[in-house]
Amino acid sequence: MDKIVNLCKGRGLIFQGSEVYGGMGNTWDYGPVGVEIKNNVKKLWWKKFVTESENSFGVDAAILMNSKVWEASGHIASFTDPKMDCKKCKSRFRADNLIEEYSKGEIDVDLMSNDEMEKYIAEHKINCPRCGNFDWTPIRQFNMMFETSRGVTDENQNRIYLRPETAQGEFVNFLNVQRSTRAKVPFGIAQIGKAFRNEITPGNFTFRTIEFEQMEHQWFCKEGSDGEFYNDYKKKAHDFLTAIGINPEHLRFHDHEKLAHYAKSACDIQYLYPFGWSELNGIHNRTDYDLARHQEFSGKSMLYLDPMTNEKFIPYVIEYSIGADRLMLALMCEAYDEEQLENETRVVLHIHPAVAAYKVAVLPLQKNMSDKGRDIYRSLVKHFACSYDDAGSIGKRYRRQDEIGTPYCVTIDFETLENDSVTLRDRDSMEQIRLPISEIASYVNDKITI
Ligand code: GAP
Repeated sequence: MDKIVNLCKGRGLIFQGSEVYGGMGNTWDYGPVGVEIKNNVKKLWWKKFVTESENSFGVDAAILMNSKVWEASGHIASFTDPKMDCKKCKSRFRADNLIEEYSKGEIDVDLMSNDEMEKYIAEHKINCPRCGNFDWTPIRQFNMMFETSRGVTDENQNRIYLRPETAQGEFVNFLNVQRSTRAKVPFGIAQIGKAFRNEITPGNFTFRTIEFEQMEHQWFCKEGSDGEFYNDYKKKAHDFLTAIGINPEHLRFHDHEKLAHYAKSACDIQYLYPFGWSELNGIHNRTDYDLARHQEFSGKSMLYLDPMTNEKFIPYVIEYSIGADRLMLALMCEAYDEEQLENETRVVLHIHPAVAAYKVAVLPLQKNMSDKGRDIYRSLVKHFACSYDDAGSIGKRYRRQDEIGTPYCVTIDFETLENDSVTLRDRDSMEQIRLPISEIASYVNDKITI
């Protein structure tokens, strides 16, 4: 993990948030390379779950919502986590996370009560990760929502919340989307956006942060068809992860035995991070709970009228939810490699070409080839993001591109000036082929389409 964190900082993928002020815990800033990778992750997800998914529609709802939304959703009453304080260094941790990390994901904390968690921590003598002492307070429940307030004067302030999930923006827009698109149940609503949680456990880099992006999709269907759609979404979610480069051996389903009161079934897909198995995404059969609660709290009907049968009902919801930051971290863990070459160790990100920040790096061998190089670069960036580098030895330039996962390097040499052909080097095999300039874009486009 430390190697990935260092690579991210050194190569412009991810920096500590507010670093010049000593940082701010559990916040991270994406740099020039990282933002490209994360945007690609989000674009590929959107393509799969909205563009290519029949009867799915996107929304981009406000982060700040009427506080009644969070009453209806149950977040104000029960979006809490079990926290413990270290009496020695006054640091606060989530008891469930302490156990998950200690057991490397092998203990199912969802099944444990607070008393059982306290007992486990005592029996296994799990020390404070910050100061190393064993002197804990009992577990207490803390609400994880960030509060803020709005109002024109101090006396007239209303408490509002930064959304802790994007899902509610999809639920409250159920009828708006259905009516404006004339969609028939079953149909889906998707959203990508920021969510905020007052997480206090140090987060294993971008795995657990206080501000993160979720990619969520709610599938509205009729009761009775929910079981089949739930299974479909489990498969769809798994297929997406393997299609963008995750080895299926590093994924496993974790079916929840203890269910939230509204859920009929729920599972996570876990990924084998360097710190152990941990949740990457969740799939939940949420029944008609969310729409029924919004109907109750808003006083507005959430009934759907089936045009074929004239039947009115509140649809069931299959929710599929994944964190963009957590997925990008999994992709980097999957891709990071150190290869022993004859005289050096090559650090390389074998990231899927569709996810890579830059698809092609244009590298003129000598300064007098720069004009040609710039021409090629300008024509290629019309198709996909590219990088241009004419500084240093060609070997060093290859290594820089390997480290950020650029799948192809195009080298401009003397032959290029004579016959408009280039060498194209493959990141993974390091093999080179000769190609006419006019064929680079279609060659690369073929490899980056999933
Ligand atoms: N609407 C359902 C929901 O929010 P969740 O399991 O709490 O469910 C869904 O969150 C996904 O969001 C997780 O599987 C994870 O990928 C991501 N996620 C949750 N909390 C996170 C955090 N603190 N930092 C980064 N990603 C997080």
